[in-house]
Amino acid sequence: MTDLKEWLSAQTTDEALGGAIESMAAAGAEIARVLREAPIAGQTGLAGSDNVQGEAQKALDVISNDIVLNHLRENPAISILISEELDEAVNMSSQGQFIVATDPLDGSSNLDVNVTVGTIFSVLPAKGGLLQRGTEQLAAGYVAYGPATSLVVRIKGETSVFTLDAQGTWVQTVAAARVPEASGEFAINTARERFWDAATTGYVKESVAGETGALGKRYNMRWVGSMVADVHRILMRGGIFLYPLDSETISRGGRLRLLYEANPMAWLIEGAGGRSTTGTMRILDVEPSDIHQRVPVILGSAEEVKRVEDWYGRG
Ligand code: AHG
Ligand code: MN
Ligand code: MN
Repeated sequence: MTDLKEWLSAQTTDEALGGAIESMAAAGAEIARVLREAPIAGQTGLAGSDNVQGEAQKALDVISNDIVLNHLRENPAISILISEELDEAVNMSSQGQFIVATDPLDGSSNLDVNVTVGTIFSVLPAKGGLLQRGTEQLAAGYVAYGPATSLVVRIKGETSVFTLDAQGTWVQTVAAARVPEASGEFAINTARERFWDAATTGYVKESVAGETGALGKRYNMRWVGSMVADVHRILMRGGIFLYPLDSETISRGGRLRLLYEANPMAWLIEGAGGRSTTGTMRILDVEPSDIHQRVPVILGSAEEVKRVEDWYGRG
Protein backbone atom coordinates (compact mmCIF):
# COMPACT_ATOMS: atom_id res chain seq x y z
CA MET A 1 0.00 0.00 0.00
CA THR A 2 1.35 3.38 -1.02
CA ASP A 3 0.32 6.42 0.95
CA LEU A 4 0.41 10.05 -0.16
CA LYS A 5 3.74 10.78 1.54
CA GLU A 6 5.49 7.89 -0.22
CA TRP A 7 3.97 8.82 -3.55
CA LEU A 8 5.03 12.46 -3.19
CA SER A 9 8.62 11.56 -2.43
CA ALA A 10 8.69 9.29 -5.50
CA GLN A 11 7.15 12.01 -7.70
CA THR A 12 9.37 14.93 -6.78
CA THR A 13 12.59 15.76 -5.02
CA ASP A 14 11.08 19.15 -4.21
CA GLU A 15 9.99 18.58 -0.61
CA ALA A 16 8.38 22.00 -0.41
CA LEU A 17 6.12 21.16 -3.36
CA GLY A 18 5.19 17.87 -1.71
CA GLY A 19 4.51 19.85 1.46
CA ALA A 20 2.17 22.22 -0.38
CA ILE A 21 0.14 19.24 -1.59
CA GLU A 22 0.17 17.75 1.91
CA SER A 23 -1.22 21.02 3.30
CA MET A 24 -4.12 20.91 0.82
CA ALA A 25 -4.67 17.20 1.57
CA ALA A 26 -4.82 18.02 5.30
CA ALA A 27 -7.29 20.84 4.63
CA GLY A 28 -9.37 18.38 2.57
CA ALA A 29 -9.38 15.82 5.39
CA GLU A 30 -10.57 18.51 7.79
CA ILE A 31 -13.26 19.77 5.40
CA ALA A 32 -14.44 16.14 5.01
CA ARG A 33 -14.88 15.91 8.80
CA VAL A 34 -16.80 19.19 8.91
CA LEU A 35 -19.09 18.23 6.00
CA ARG A 36 -19.91 14.86 7.52
CA GLU A 37 -21.51 16.50 10.57
CA ALA A 38 -22.52 19.89 9.15
CA PRO A 39 -26.30 19.31 9.33
CA ILE A 40 -25.93 18.38 13.03
CA ALA A 41 -23.80 21.45 13.71
CA GLY A 42 -26.35 23.60 11.88
CA GLN A 43 -23.72 24.65 9.31
CA THR A 44 -26.12 24.62 6.39
CA GLY A 45 -27.68 27.34 4.30
CA LEU A 46 -26.42 30.76 3.38
CA ALA A 47 -23.65 32.71 5.08
CA GLY A 48 -25.48 35.98 4.39
CA SER A 49 -22.67 37.37 2.23
CA ASP A 50 -21.73 37.44 -1.47
CA ASN A 51 -18.34 36.59 -2.93
CA VAL A 52 -16.55 38.78 -5.48
CA GLN A 53 -18.47 37.12 -8.31
CA GLY A 54 -21.72 38.27 -6.70
CA GLU A 55 -22.68 34.71 -5.75
CA ALA A 56 -24.32 34.06 -2.38
CA GLN A 57 -21.83 32.33 -0.10
CA LYS A 58 -22.96 29.28 1.83
CA ALA A 59 -21.85 28.94 5.45
CA LEU A 60 -19.73 25.98 4.37
CA ASP A 61 -18.09 27.96 1.54
CA VAL A 62 -16.79 30.35 4.18
CA ILE A 63 -15.84 27.60 6.67
CA SER A 64 -13.99 25.62 3.97
CA ASN A 65 -12.16 28.73 2.84
CA ASP A 66 -11.05 29.39 6.43
CA ILE A 67 -9.82 25.79 6.80
CA VAL A 68 -7.71 26.08 3.63
CA LEU A 69 -6.41 29.47 4.73
CA ASN A 70 -5.36 28.12 8.15
CA HIS A 71 -3.57 25.09 6.73
CA LEU A 72 -1.70 27.16 4.16
CA ARG A 73 -0.75 29.81 6.74
CA GLU A 74 1.09 27.10 8.68
CA ASN A 75 3.17 26.29 5.60
CA PRO A 76 6.06 28.74 5.00
CA ALA A 77 6.39 27.57 1.39
CA ILE A 78 3.11 29.27 0.45
CA SER A 79 3.57 32.81 -0.78
CA ILE A 80 0.08 33.73 -2.01
CA LEU A 81 -3.41 32.30 -1.83
CA ILE A 82 -6.01 32.96 -4.54
CA SER A 83 -9.49 31.76 -3.58
CA GLU A 84 -12.92 31.85 -5.16
CA GLU A 85 -14.18 33.18 -1.85
CA LEU A 86 -11.65 36.04 -1.48
CA ASP A 87 -11.84 39.18 -3.61
CA GLU A 88 -8.09 39.76 -3.52
CA ALA A 89 -5.10 37.45 -3.50
CA VAL A 90 -3.83 37.01 0.07
CA ASN A 91 -0.15 37.38 0.89
CA MET A 92 1.09 34.54 3.06
CA SER A 93 4.78 33.84 3.73
CA SER A 94 7.26 36.31 2.25
CA GLN A 95 9.75 33.44 1.84
CA GLY A 96 7.19 31.25 0.09
CA GLN A 97 7.84 29.92 -3.39
CA PHE A 98 4.30 28.81 -4.34
CA ILE A 99 0.98 30.36 -5.23
CA VAL A 100 -2.04 28.21 -4.44
CA ALA A 101 -5.30 28.93 -6.27
CA THR A 102 -8.36 27.21 -4.84
CA ASP A 103 -12.07 26.67 -5.06
CA PRO A 104 -12.44 25.64 -1.40
CA LEU A 105 -15.90 24.18 -1.92
CA ASP A 106 -17.07 23.40 -5.41
CA GLY A 107 -20.70 22.51 -6.08
CA SER A 108 -22.00 24.18 -2.98
CA SER A 109 -25.57 24.21 -4.35
CA ASN A 110 -25.42 20.44 -3.70
CA LEU A 111 -24.49 20.77 -0.04
CA ASP A 112 -27.90 20.93 1.52
CA VAL A 113 -29.04 17.84 -0.41
CA ASN A 114 -26.07 15.64 0.57
CA VAL A 115 -24.65 15.27 -2.93
CA THR A 116 -20.90 15.12 -3.67
CA VAL A 117 -18.97 18.39 -3.48
CA GLY A 118 -15.23 19.04 -3.64
CA THR A 119 -12.16 21.22 -3.11
CA ILE A 120 -10.05 22.12 -6.15
CA PHE A 121 -6.49 23.46 -6.08
CA SER A 122 -3.67 24.53 -8.36
CA VAL A 123 -0.02 25.13 -7.38
CA LEU A 124 2.03 27.69 -9.35
CA PRO A 125 5.54 29.11 -8.93
CA ALA A 126 5.39 32.40 -7.00
CA LYS A 127 8.04 33.96 -9.22
CA GLY A 128 5.65 33.80 -12.18
CA GLY A 129 3.19 36.19 -10.56
CA LEU A 130 -0.57 35.96 -10.13
CA LEU A 131 -1.54 35.59 -13.77
CA GLN A 132 0.09 32.48 -15.20
CA ARG A 133 -1.14 30.09 -17.83
CA GLY A 134 -2.21 26.61 -16.79
CA THR A 135 0.85 25.13 -18.49
CA GLU A 136 2.93 26.74 -15.70
CA GLN A 137 1.22 24.69 -12.97
CA LEU A 138 3.60 22.67 -10.79
CA ALA A 139 0.81 20.50 -9.44
CA ALA A 140 -2.96 20.38 -9.20
CA GLY A 141 -5.57 18.33 -7.44
CA TYR A 142 -9.01 18.03 -6.00
CA VAL A 143 -10.69 16.35 -3.07
CA ALA A 144 -14.11 14.80 -3.75
CA TYR A 145 -16.38 14.43 -0.73
CA GLY A 146 -18.57 11.54 -1.86
CA PRO A 147 -19.35 8.05 -0.56
CA ALA A 148 -15.55 7.91 -0.15
CA THR A 149 -13.29 10.93 0.27
CA SER A 150 -10.94 10.91 -2.72
CA LEU A 151 -7.84 12.99 -3.38
CA VAL A 152 -6.82 13.22 -7.02
CA VAL A 153 -3.43 14.77 -7.62
CA ARG A 154 -0.86 15.24 -10.33
CA ILE A 155 2.58 16.80 -10.20
CA LYS A 156 3.88 16.18 -13.70
CA GLY A 157 3.52 12.53 -14.56
CA GLU A 158 0.43 10.52 -14.01
CA THR A 159 -2.79 11.50 -12.26
CA SER A 160 -3.12 9.47 -9.08
CA VAL A 161 -6.10 8.77 -6.81
CA PHE A 162 -5.97 8.40 -3.01
CA THR A 163 -8.72 7.48 -0.57
CA LEU A 164 -8.92 8.76 3.00
CA ASP A 165 -9.02 5.91 5.51
CA ALA A 166 -10.50 5.97 9.01
CA GLN A 167 -7.09 6.82 10.50
CA GLY A 168 -6.76 9.89 8.32
CA THR A 169 -4.18 8.43 5.93
CA TRP A 170 -4.46 9.01 2.18
CA VAL A 171 -4.05 5.54 0.66
CA GLN A 172 -3.33 5.27 -3.06
CA THR A 173 -6.22 3.49 -4.76
CA VAL A 174 -5.46 4.23 -8.44
CA ALA A 175 -1.80 4.64 -9.43
CA ALA A 176 -2.29 6.12 -12.88
CA ALA A 177 -5.83 7.01 -13.82
CA ARG A 178 -6.60 6.79 -17.55
CA VAL A 179 -9.54 8.56 -19.12
CA PRO A 180 -10.81 6.17 -21.81
CA GLU A 181 -10.26 7.61 -25.34
CA ALA A 182 -13.85 6.96 -26.31
CA SER A 183 -17.04 7.25 -24.31
CA GLY A 184 -20.79 7.40 -24.69
CA GLU A 185 -21.53 9.73 -21.79
CA PHE A 186 -21.78 13.52 -21.83
CA ALA A 187 -22.35 16.07 -19.06
CA ILE A 188 -23.91 19.45 -19.78
CA ASN A 189 -26.66 21.55 -18.22
CA THR A 190 -29.28 20.97 -20.93
CA ALA A 191 -31.61 23.55 -19.36
CA ARG A 192 -29.30 26.12 -20.98
CA GLU A 193 -30.06 24.89 -24.50
CA ARG A 194 -31.67 28.14 -25.61
CA PHE A 195 -28.38 29.98 -24.91
CA TRP A 196 -26.13 27.51 -26.76
CA ASP A 197 -24.01 28.28 -29.81
CA ALA A 198 -24.21 26.23 -33.03
CA ALA A 199 -21.27 23.99 -32.08
CA THR A 200 -22.73 22.98 -28.72
CA THR A 201 -26.17 22.45 -30.22
CA GLY A 202 -24.65 20.39 -33.05
CA TYR A 203 -22.61 18.24 -30.69
CA VAL A 204 -25.49 17.53 -28.31
CA LYS A 205 -28.06 16.89 -31.10
CA GLU A 206 -25.68 14.41 -32.71
CA SER A 207 -25.18 12.65 -29.35
CA VAL A 208 -28.85 12.55 -28.45
CA ALA A 209 -29.68 11.07 -31.86
CA GLY A 210 -27.84 7.97 -30.65
CA GLU A 211 -27.84 4.92 -32.92
CA THR A 212 -30.36 6.62 -35.24
CA GLY A 213 -27.96 9.54 -35.95
CA ALA A 214 -24.76 10.09 -37.91
CA LEU A 215 -22.63 8.55 -35.15
CA GLY A 216 -24.67 5.37 -34.94
CA LYS A 217 -23.91 5.18 -31.24
CA ARG A 218 -26.01 5.45 -28.09
CA TYR A 219 -25.18 8.24 -25.63
CA ASN A 220 -26.20 8.79 -22.04
CA MET A 221 -26.31 12.06 -20.09
CA ARG A 222 -25.08 12.68 -16.55
CA TRP A 223 -24.94 16.07 -14.78
CA VAL A 224 -24.29 16.26 -11.04
CA GLY A 225 -23.89 20.02 -10.91
CA SER A 226 -20.65 19.70 -8.93
CA MET A 227 -17.76 19.96 -11.35
CA VAL A 228 -15.63 17.84 -9.02
CA ALA A 229 -18.15 14.99 -9.08
CA ASP A 230 -18.65 15.20 -12.84
CA VAL A 231 -14.91 15.33 -13.52
CA HIS A 232 -14.22 12.47 -11.12
CA ARG A 233 -16.72 10.27 -12.94
CA ILE A 234 -15.05 11.16 -16.24
CA LEU A 235 -11.59 10.44 -14.84
CA MET A 236 -12.70 7.02 -13.63
CA ARG A 237 -14.83 5.83 -16.55
CA GLY A 238 -14.67 8.38 -19.36
CA GLY A 239 -17.08 10.94 -20.74
CA ILE A 240 -17.07 14.64 -21.47
CA PHE A 241 -17.91 17.71 -19.37
CA LEU A 242 -19.10 20.87 -21.10
CA TYR A 243 -19.71 24.32 -19.70
CA PRO A 244 -19.33 26.15 -23.01
CA LEU A 245 -19.57 29.82 -23.76
CA ASP A 246 -23.22 30.63 -24.44
CA SER A 247 -25.24 33.74 -25.16
CA GLU A 248 -25.84 34.33 -21.45
CA THR A 249 -22.29 33.70 -20.14
CA ILE A 250 -20.55 35.39 -23.08
CA SER A 251 -20.39 38.79 -21.37
CA ARG A 252 -18.49 37.19 -18.46
CA GLY A 253 -16.28 34.98 -20.64
CA GLY A 254 -17.90 31.78 -19.40
CA ARG A 255 -19.24 30.29 -16.17
CA LEU A 256 -16.32 28.46 -14.57
CA ARG A 257 -13.18 30.11 -13.25
CA LEU A 258 -9.88 29.66 -15.08
CA LEU A 259 -7.35 29.71 -12.24
CA TYR A 260 -9.03 27.46 -9.69
CA GLU A 261 -11.55 25.37 -11.66
CA ALA A 262 -10.61 25.02 -15.33
CA ASN A 263 -6.80 24.90 -15.16
CA PRO A 264 -6.40 22.35 -12.35
CA MET A 265 -9.09 20.09 -13.85
CA ALA A 266 -7.56 20.34 -17.34
CA TRP A 267 -4.12 19.52 -15.86
CA LEU A 268 -5.48 16.41 -14.13
CA ILE A 269 -7.52 15.21 -17.12
CA GLU A 270 -4.61 15.73 -19.55
CA GLY A 271 -2.32 13.85 -17.14
CA ALA A 272 -4.71 10.93 -17.45
CA GLY A 273 -4.64 11.01 -21.26
CA GLY A 274 -7.76 13.11 -21.70
CA ARG A 275 -8.14 16.42 -23.53
CA SER A 276 -9.31 19.94 -22.72
CA THR A 277 -10.44 22.94 -24.72
CA THR A 278 -12.38 26.17 -24.54
CA GLY A 279 -13.85 25.12 -27.87
CA THR A 280 -11.23 27.03 -29.81
CA MET A 281 -8.01 26.59 -27.80
CA ARG A 282 -6.39 24.41 -25.16
CA ILE A 283 -7.52 25.59 -21.71
CA LEU A 284 -3.97 25.39 -20.32
CA ASP A 285 -2.77 27.90 -22.94
CA VAL A 286 -5.28 30.63 -22.03
CA GLU A 287 -3.47 33.77 -20.87
CA PRO A 288 -5.20 34.98 -17.69
CA SER A 289 -6.00 38.66 -17.28
CA ASP A 290 -7.72 38.49 -13.88
CA ILE A 291 -7.48 36.11 -10.92
CA HIS A 292 -11.23 35.45 -11.04
CA GLN A 293 -11.40 35.22 -14.83
CA ARG A 294 -13.98 32.87 -16.28
CA VAL A 295 -13.52 30.57 -19.24
CA PRO A 296 -15.52 28.05 -21.29
CA VAL A 297 -14.65 24.49 -20.21
CA ILE A 298 -14.85 21.32 -22.29
CA LEU A 299 -12.80 18.34 -21.10
CA GLY A 300 -12.70 14.57 -20.90
CA SER A 301 -12.31 11.63 -23.28
CA ALA A 302 -10.09 12.71 -26.18
CA GLU A 303 -12.40 11.45 -28.94
CA GLU A 304 -15.39 13.34 -27.59
CA VAL A 305 -13.46 16.56 -26.96
CA LYS A 306 -12.12 16.37 -30.53
CA ARG A 307 -15.68 15.96 -31.81
CA VAL A 308 -16.63 19.22 -30.04
CA GLU A 309 -13.52 20.91 -31.50
CA ASP A 310 -14.62 19.72 -34.95
CA TRP A 311 -17.99 21.38 -34.43
CA TYR A 312 -16.26 24.63 -33.45
CA GLY A 313 -14.01 24.28 -36.51
CA ARG A 314 -17.06 24.26 -38.79
CA GLY A 315 -17.49 27.84 -37.57
P1 AHG B 1 -19.28 26.72 -7.17
O1 AHG B 1 -20.17 25.92 -6.25
O2 AHG B 1 -17.84 26.71 -6.73
O3 AHG B 1 -19.80 28.09 -7.48
O4 AHG B 1 -19.22 25.94 -8.57
C1 AHG B 1 -20.38 25.44 -9.16
C2 AHG B 1 -20.06 25.16 -10.60
C3 AHG B 1 -19.63 23.75 -10.90
O5 AHG B 1 -19.35 22.95 -9.84
C4 AHG B 1 -20.78 23.16 -11.67
O6 AHG B 1 -20.31 22.36 -12.70
C5 AHG B 1 -21.51 24.34 -12.19
O7 AHG B 1 -21.22 25.41 -11.34
C6 AHG B 1 -22.99 24.10 -12.19
O8 AHG B 1 -23.59 25.13 -12.88
P2 AHG B 1 -25.17 25.16 -13.13
O9 AHG B 1 -25.77 25.62 -11.85
O10 AHG B 1 -25.32 26.14 -14.26
O11 AHG B 1 -25.61 23.76 -13.53
MN1 MN C 1 -16.75 25.75 -8.22
MN1 MN D 1 -16.87 27.16 -4.74
